[in-house]
Order: sequence, then structure tokens, then C-alpha cells
Amino acid sequence: MSSPKRILLIIGGGIAAYKCLELIRRLKERGHSVRAVMTKAAHQFVTPLSVGALTNERVLTDLFDLDEEREIGHIRLARDSDLIVVAPATADLLARMAGGHADDLATAVLLATDKPVLVAPAMNPAMWLHPATRRNVAQLKADGIGFAGPAIGEMAERGEAGPGRLVEVPQLIEAIESALEPETANSGLLAGRHVIVTSGPTHEPIDPIRYLANRSSGKQGFEFAAAARELGARVTLITGPVSLPEPDGVRIIHIKTAAEMLDAVRAELPADIAVFAAAVADWRVVAPQTEKIKKAEGRNAPTLTLTENPDILKTIAQPGPDRPRFVIGFAAETQDVLAHAKKKLKSKRADWIIANDVSPSSGVMGGENNTVHVVTADGVESWPEMSKAKVARKIMERAAEQLQAKRTAAE
Ligand code: C5P
Repeated sequence: MSSPKRILLIIGGGIAAYKCLELIRRLKERGHSVRAVMTKAAHQFVTPLSVGALTNERVLTDLFDLDEEREIGHIRLARDSDLIVVAPATADLLARMAGGHADDLATAVLLATDKPVLVAPAMNPAMWLHPATRRNVAQLKADGIGFAGPAIGEMAERGEAGPGRLVEVPQLIEAIESALEPETANSGLLAGRHVIVTSGPTHEPIDPIRYLANRSSGKQGFEFAAAARELGARVTLITGPVSLPEPDGVRIIHIKTAAEMLDAVRAELPADIAVFAAAVADWRVVAPQTEKIKKAEGRNAPTLTLTENPDILKTIAQPGPDRPRFVIGFAAETQDVLAHAKKKLKSKRADWIIANDVSPSSGVMGGENNTVHVVTADGVESWPEMSKAKVARKIMERAAEQLQAKRTAAE
């Protein structure tokens, strides 16, 4: 938990605005003070009365309200906080921010501030993916605006799914607290290092249309790539098919099959650290058909003959001149998590195995959080549940320390 701070919350006009009430409550519980500005559109979704009751402060809305301006001018409002959080940030609000508009209190404050700004977008996936929004987001990122989310999932509109959901309140709080206290201390820890990360599922073809796959979302691997980048590394992310926003400043190689993933990893060596977070398919079809397999009346269902895929982690972690100096593997299990992980540490010759429970009830597959055990030759460390971003950051920091220790020992 970070030390108490002053947060200015700008509430945009989206269906997710109601989540701000929970956000304010949680931030206050953590000792922060919150002042809120609502856009006109936000009034359609939450009332200033409920927001004000929770912040214990007058809610501000109008740039041209003399009373408000006398109480606290918009310039002071822009400067008198440690962080400005925009949630939910609608497509329209992002566009106005990117364009430098200042025609209401929210945008005037955002234009006048010299404080860090964190936005949590929430909109329909089509709007988030629209080239205009992509342009605005790129502009805002280049301007130094921080982003939390959006998350991927079901939208309020029935049947719509994709990136565009407001991140859940605990993740937003985590993003707020790390924006308040950026972890600058370690920011150059991996400078000059090359980190390779594998991520996502692989797709093993049955015919040109069909494939074998698994439920991996690729989130944990993408977070590893982002964390390594934040620590200053040159990062190569080799990923199977996923639908995630690409982390900035990372070289991404898209592959489909396990064989392609192995070739890509080999081509990108040497590396200082390799993180094998991909959920590689264990088997592939021996003879994928070149034409679509047709069903026909009276004909039996086809039988698929499978063969084992190369174990990428095991192959790359074998001792040899090309072995990355530090190798991290995963053990995603639905039972006997630790026993399997310990076995894997030896059989795959990894330096660490990150073990986690991926039974459907754990919510890990596709979720935002993870509960991991770090299995090393020295024993097991069990960590409390935290966001996948935090897991990645902590593990990359630890791996960087290990590398440093190896280097010092070698000198
Ligand atoms: O044997 P299992 O699939 O449980 O091992 C998991 C670990 O091995 C993960 O780190 C995964 O990325 C890696 N792996 C791999 N290639 C495979 C299978 C698993 O790199 N074919």
C-alpha cells in the first residue's frame, strides 16, 4: 500500500461510471483523498450526489460556474493533486484529450495539469479498435499519459465481446498506486539485456480450416514482455494467436504452431533471460490435410493421429553455448501443482518454474490475476494472489538479481 495521496478523479460518461463509486470507496479506505470532476455525460450514469457523498467533497462539473471557480479554480484543481485519473475514459473523452480541447472543466483541467495522468478506457470494442481511437491512444501514450486497460470481455451490449471493458477496481487501484509511486528504483535493472518471452496458445492444424488449441489468453506472457521492457531490456515476444494489445517497445513475432515457435526462439538466441509462458500444444496432427475434410453421409468421423510436439523449454534449456543464462518455465496444473512443478524443474533443466493452478475455478486462464509458487533449486516460495502484471514485474526483478549474482560469481 502506498502513502496517502490526493487523487483527482475525472468521471466520463459511460455505462461503467457506476464502478467509480466502488473505486472512490476503496481509495478512501486506503487513506487517499479523492476529489471528483464529472463530465456532463457522466451525469447520465451516476449522480453528483452519490459521488459527493463518497468523496466528502463538492463534485465539480462546470468550467463556467462562478461559485465553483471561486471555491477552487480549474488551474489549482489541475495542480493540487498527485495524480489525475480518468475513469471511465470514453472514446470521445480520449479524442478530446488527444486533440488538446478545453471546452469543459474535465478537459480544461487535463490540459492545464502538470501532474501524471492515468486513463482507464471503457467503450464498445469496435470503438476501441477504430483507427481514430488507435490514433488518439498512440498520441496520448506519446504525450506520457498512462493507461490502465481496457480489459477484454463481455460488453454491456448483449453478444458483444472484445477489448473495451473498464478494468476491475482492484487492478485500477494497483495501476493508480504504481502511477503514484513509479517503481523507478529498478527501472534500469535489465538495461543491455535481451529477454525472450514465449506466450499464448499454439494452433496445430487439422486441415486448412480447423486446428487443435487451448484456452491460454497470453496475458501472463504479454505482462512478462512489458515488465522486462520497463526494466530496460531489449525484448522479443514470440506469441501464438491471441487478441491482446501489443506492448510498446517490444519486438513481436507471431507464430501459429509449436514447430514455428521453436524455430523462432532459436532464431532469436542468444538471450540473457528466456521466459517460457506459452501454453504450447502437447500434440499435433501427424498429417494435416491440405484440403478441408468433408463430412459425408455414411462416412465415419475422421480419426486424428497425433504425435508429440517438440518441448521448446526443454530443448532450449539444455546446457550448451546457446542456452539463455537464465531460464524460467511454467507449470500450469489442475492438481498436485507443486509436485509436478518440482519434477519439471529437473526434467526441463529450468532455473525456475513458476507453478500455478489453472483449474477452471481458479479463474487464472483468461483472468487478470494469478497466484503463483516460485519453485527453485532452493525450495518453494508461495506468493499471494496478485495481478499478472505484478507477478511479471516481481519475477523479472528477481531474475535480474539472479543474473547479476551469476555475473558477480563469475568475476
Ligand atoms: O510439460 P508442460 O507443458 O506442463 O510444461 C510447461 C512448461 O514448458 C511451460 O513453461 C511451457 O511454456 C513449456 N513448454 C514448451 N514446449 C512444449 C510444452 C511446454 O516450451 N511443447
